[in-house]
Amino acid sequence: MATFIIDHPLIKHKITLLRDENTGTRDFRILVEEIAMLMGYEALRDLPTELQLVRSPIAESYQPVLSGKKLAVVPILRAGLGMVNGILSLVPAAKVGHIGLYRDEDTHEPHEYFCKLPENIGERVVILPGPMLATGGSAIQAVKFIKAKGCTNIKFMCILAAPEGLAALEKAHPDIDIYVGCVDEKLNENAYIVPGLGDAGDRIFGTK
Ligand code: URA
Repeated sequence: MATFIIDHPLIKHKITLLRDENTGTRDFRILVEEIAMLMGYEALRDLPTELQLVRSPIAESYQPVLSGKKLAVVPILRAGLGMVNGILSLVPAAKVGHIGLYRDEDTHEPHEYFCKLPENIGERVVILPGPMLATGGSAIQAVKFIKAKGCTNIKFMCILAAPEGLAALEKAHPDIDIYVGCVDEKLNENAYIVPGLGDAGDRIFGTK
């Protein structure tokens, strides 16, 4: 599979607004949703279609409709939640699961505290949103859970990635698609993305 860096002026502009420390909770939340929607548009580009007979006021013809596998959106808690509505605005019938991981403050290792997935998850195309791909630990772990449930078509979606996190995810799971809004410079000593946007969860939920 492949990594796609979404190169679009609208996404670039909105990411710059996200980075700004003066962007408040309300606007931050709206921007995350909008970026997720724009990225989702790209990530769903390869959805299969089939022809269906449709009658317009003028004539009957065969026209494309979505077909094939059903979708699931499985955000990585908690910041991934901020991207869900943007993706659902494109595919409102998608099921939603949740994976809860927290990062150990000292080791920066991810630990699972919650995992609830839709039925037949193994038969679905799974979109896994997590806005910040930092060390890659949480994303790698989340993809492992999903794969263990039988999923084979996984699309990980992040707004910002650190080069080291992106490389780690690509190495651990070369068989998934990865969609990235922007690859930043590096991680700092606290595993925050530089220049980044700070703690995405805190900024989405206003917890700091
Ligand atoms: N998680 C965040 O929310 N921000 C970072 O910079 C890294 C991980």
